[in-house]
Amino acid sequence: MVHGPDVTRPEARYEDMSPEVYDRVKRQLLPWVQTVTLTGGGEPFLAPVFYQMLDDVLGAGKSVEVVTNGTIIRPDYLERLVGTPSTLEVSLDGATAEVNDRIRLGVKFDRVMEFLETVREIMRRSAHPGFTVGIRWAVTRSNVQQMLDCVELAHRYGVRQIAFENFDTFGRSDEFARQESLEAQPSEVLPHWKQAYDRGLQVGVAVLPMRLVDAWIRQPEEGSRRAGALLDGQRIRHCPLPWWSVYVEVDGTIKACCRLPAPMGDLRQSSFREIWNGPTYRLLRSLVNTPSMPEECRTCSIVQRF
Ligand SMILES: C[S@@+](CC[C@H](N)C(=O)[O-])C[C@H]1O[C@@H](n2cnc3c(N)ncnc32)[C@H](O)[C@@H]1O
Ligand code: SF4
Repeated sequence: MVHGPDVTRPEARYEDMSPEVYDRVKRQLLPWVQTVTLTGGGEPFLAPVFYQMLDDVLGAGKSVEVVTNGTIIRPDYLERLVGTPSTLEVSLDGATAEVNDRIRLGVKFDRVMEFLETVREIMRRSAHPGFTVGIRWAVTRSNVQQMLDCVELAHRYGVRQIAFENFDTFGRSDEFARQESLEAQPSEVLPHWKQAYDRGLQVGVAVLPMRLVDAWIRQPEEGSRRAGALLDGQRIRHCPLPWWSVYVEVDGTIKACCRLPAPMGDLRQSSFREIWNGPTYRLLRSLVNTPSMPEECRTCSIVQRF
């Protein structure tokens, strides 16, 4: 899925995890985890090993978190997911077809509404109490005025949470990115987020903290780029990820999180146990919550959730 015509990456392609790498993940990691987040740049349900992954994860009694455009999920797997304490996040970038279809090229608003309707019907019949359906929305100039409408839409469809994210241009300089990005105008986003949040409280839709807005509120002078302070005046910015979770790239590279590019090891070369207990991981754990943390950790928005 691409937001608007991305002329800087016309050939953007996403790689799938090979069965060999997946086999190692399954044998060496799956027994030890509670939740598996299946994510990536493209549509996860298109990956050749995706349904196999769902079978393995759900079959082992674990839960799944998945972000999808909601267009190609097999109905039998949808039923299975709704019957587990999993989270299904559906991407949507407008509360009307006119706005969504202009931003999310190739993913029609009506199709997403049909999908949400199907999920709601299945949930009415039988839903695990821990199952959550959410909306993930990239905030742009075209849809910022519809954030409140998104909460109403969520309420109508039984959606329990909304994650508004800032539309990240990732250095794009095309017309669409320049016009739509509100990265540098937090004051244009914040009132809409607040309205959505307040309405969410009334109707039982959790509007999650917007990461950048959260940073802007607390550090208005410095913007979101704070120099890695371990205490931001209100909260200790402790990062537990190197102890709690692990990020596996499609090629078997093990990373501490999706943000830190430094590899902790390679699943094709070493066992996961060796990597997890190895010198690179141990060094990161010794530094991540000290003033000598890696550069990426200084501006990391992930840890502000903790
Ligand atoms: C990369 S998509 C992949 C999953 C799936 N194909 C989909 O459309 O949901 C995952 C999420 O990232 C969001 N996303 C993609 N590009 C983004 C960007 N430049 N800024 C903010 N969010 C973005 C999408 O809106 C979607 O909710
Ligand atoms: S602070 Fe952020 S970038 Fe650093 S390890 Fe934690 S989650 Fe990753």
